[in-house]
Amino acid sequence: DADGIAACVKDECAHRACPLSLGQVVDGQVECPYHGWAYNRGGECTKMPSTRYCKGVGVKSLTVQEQDGLIWVWPGGAEPTTEVPRFHAPEGFTTHAELMLDVPVEHGLLIENLLDLAHAPFTHTSTFAKGWSIPELVNIKMNGALVGNWDPYPIDMSFEAPCITLSTIGLARPGQVEKGLRAEDCPKHLYQMHVCLPSKKGHTRLLYRMALDFMPWVQYVPFINSVWQQMANQVLGEDLRLVLGQQERMAVGSDTWANPVSYD
Ligand code: FES
Ligand SMILES: [Fe+2]
Repeated sequence: DADGIAACVKDECAHRACPLSLGQVVDGQVECPYHGWAYNRGGECTKMPSTRYCKGVGVKSLTVQEQDGLIWVWPGGAEPTTEVPRFHAPEGFTTHAELMLDVPVEHGLLIENLLDLAHAPFTHTSTFAKGWSIPELVNIKMNGALVGNWDPYPIDMSFEAPCITLSTIGLARPGQVEKGLRAEDCPKHLYQMHVCLPSKKGHTRLLYRMALDFMPWVQYVPFINSVWQQMANQVLGEDLRLVLGQQERMAVGSDTWANPVSYD
């Protein structure tokens, strides 16, 4: 709105049902791109250009709360009663990338993929797992409900229901994952948050945040954002063809959990 506070109104103009998301926010109000009707944060129509203004016209609005760069929406219409969870990078980390990617995969499959590290040396051979050897045994040691550390990789992961995964990757040297270490034993760390929002059937809007506890100056490197974007797309691309293939098979009744093993 005009104070820079997040708001959420139904994506459908009260006039001819044009998507308001195609319009713009002008003076803190969302303006429909079709005939210019404008709506305030409460969804009330405040402007109907080129005709006589009719009072009492509006669209539905929802309660929202902003916390740590995430906007939480209450679709049930209830006032938020509990505090929203905190999801900021740990103390001492600098956030370097915050990206949004639209992925043509159902969010459950994508979350399973993000929490799976055993696939890295087979799938991510052109990106972060380039040169990784294939361990005798890959395991996730759970040290809490849905929190664990990977063995032999220095990577801690957690799943925050219903759709967030967090990971802290220990680096022996910048960009280098060393086997046989715990994340906490490494001098440098990369922190990642993946939020997998179901956006429409078979589609996920992926919010990605990456932070480092070393080289804070990297954020000032020109065009660094497009470098991170390209890297994220590359890694995701390596997964996507596999997960899309799974999705196609699931659609005709295949079971993706027919033979689970210890690292699953
Ligand atoms: S459809 Fe939105 S102003 Fe006409
Ligand atoms: Fe992957």
